[in-house]
Amino acid sequence: MRIKFYLIIFVFVSNCLLATAQITAYQYEAQKNITVSRAAVVSAHTLASQAGESILKKGGNAIDAAIATQFALAVVYPGAGNIGGGGFMVAHLKNGKDFSLDYRETAPAAAFKDMYLDAAGNAVTAMSQWGYKACGVPGTVAGLFAALPYAKFKMPVLMAPAIQLAEKGFVITKEEAASLNSARKDFMDLNKEPIAFVKKELWKGGDTLIQPQLAATLTRISKLGASGFYEGATALMIQNGLQKNGGIISLDDLKNYKAKFRDPIRFNYRGYQIISMPLPSSGGIILQQVLKMIENKDVQALQFQSAASVQLLVEAERRAFADRAQYMGDADFVQVPVKQLLEDTYLQKRISDYIPGKAGNSKETEAGIIPEHEETTHISILDAEGNAVSVTTTLNGSYGSRVVIAGAGFIMNNEMDDFSIKEGVPNMYGAVGNAANAIAPGKRMLSSMTPTLVLKNKKPFIVVGTPGGTTIPTSVIQSLVNIIDFKMNAADAVNKPKFHHQWLPDVIYIEKGFSPAVADSLRNMGYTLQTRSAIGRTELIKINPTQKKKIEAVADHRGDDDARGY
Ligand code: GLY
Repeated sequence: MRIKFYLIIFVFVSNCLLATAQITAYQYEAQKNITVSRAAVVSAHTLASQAGESILKKGGNAIDAAIATQFALAVVYPGAGNIGGGGFMVAHLKNGKDFSLDYRETAPAAAFKDMYLDAAGNAVTAMSQWGYKACGVPGTVAGLFAALPYAKFKMPVLMAPAIQLAEKGFVITKEEAASLNSARKDFMDLNKEPIAFVKKELWKGGDTLIQPQLAATLTRISKLGASGFYEGATALMIQNGLQKNGGIISLDDLKNYKAKFRDPIRFNYRGYQIISMPLPSSGGIILQQVLKMIENKDVQALQFQSAASVQLLVEAERRAFADRAQYMGDADFVQVPVKQLLEDTYLQKRISDYIPGKAGNSKETEAGIIPEHEETTHISILDAEGNAVSVTTTLNGSYGSRVVIAGAGFIMNNEMDDFSIKEGVPNMYGAVGNAANAIAPGKRMLSSMTPTLVLKNKKPFIVVGTPGGTTIPTSVIQSLVNIIDFKMNAADAVNKPKFHHQWLPDVIYIEKGFSPAVADSLRNMGYTLQTRSAIGRTELIKINPTQKKKIEAVADHRGDDDARGY
């Protein structure tokens, strides 16, 4: 009798909890800035941040939360959250260990260097950027399973929020509706079967997006493990769906995919220990090059976004991006002179010819001599135990290749465009490259993703990262300089207007809101400036250990991004 009573209470409470979870998916509002005392998750979507927060509150650690948040993003943020793409994770564990995990996509075995050139040898970027041939072999699912040994919960618990959101649906925001509508034509041209992302009428904010095929795919993964994606029914759907339409990913490509643990980029900047992503991301190297080039200048005295401080950063960025184009690629395939690129003497020499007040020139600044529409997304997490995780993940362009795997309901990446498809031909972010980043079977395409951690006295101080193609490292650099040099709070560090220079094109991109007077001063120095609507969508956590509510968690005001914590 007593047992029956408790059972009834249990069922009642569970139903209430389920109902609460469902109501949240139909009615929610983004939180931008929070100050909390124990733990925080910041991501591109409220429902994904909530999935991470609920795992933390159940006793999970930052790795549990990173896995739960990323799977939830694959449902609620289809433009970039993904299982059909790849990403990078950088983690600092409470025992002092750091790791970086590479689950970047790879070129399929049938890929070859000139696969995006026509008969006359011209680059056909439409092929590398959109549709079936643009897809690399996805790495996200393998990556999240590789991280699982560091988590406390089993995968079915971590995937439950994502599965529920896909199965029962959730309400989309105005921004997501506009974004889905802008991709509608591509979705309809490329996908012959009905897909969840296109309905009869245009989407509007407040509509419900239900993804039953994706729910079934996630359920297979949850039950069978990574082989629920890389083998069996899902793998067959990927191979058949792509190959029927000119794609080249095979069952073997999927079965052979491996995520890799790598030694992170580590360096000190003004007494802080910075940990970031190594190759195949250029992000950590660019971060170190730029910060080391400016470290012996009194940046604070130059003041935030004065013409002088912008110029200094622009000239350091110009030099780092010239090196990126010349030398960087997947170091498992090509020799990259990483050690030399990061030597202090090399970097000091490199910045020594910069002339304050006079614009540099990318024709003269070549690589040093040594003997993205952009959609990616970032998650920053800190747990109550002191573990910190920074994850950036991507489909490359918004909604990737815009190919939805028939029957499996997820969007494939268009990451092949991050290779240099022909020497000197810019990719969708305007970045150029050469042989180091040429296509080869099994090779990872060069990335700019820069998931980064900053430690102070060996404890997490900043967790940061952003989407934005080639603007990723420069946005991360500015967020760090804003806090470390200009002593800004986390919200200002993220939300103040940003700027960007990437060697080629030889242009300073400025975000709307950038001071017109400073822009004029830079033009007077000889720079060409171009305004862009937004640079980055940075998710940042800053820890102030002496305060009771010690965690500032900030979700970028440029999108639907959301910070949760307690
Ligand atoms: N797809 C953008 C990047 O990896 O840099």
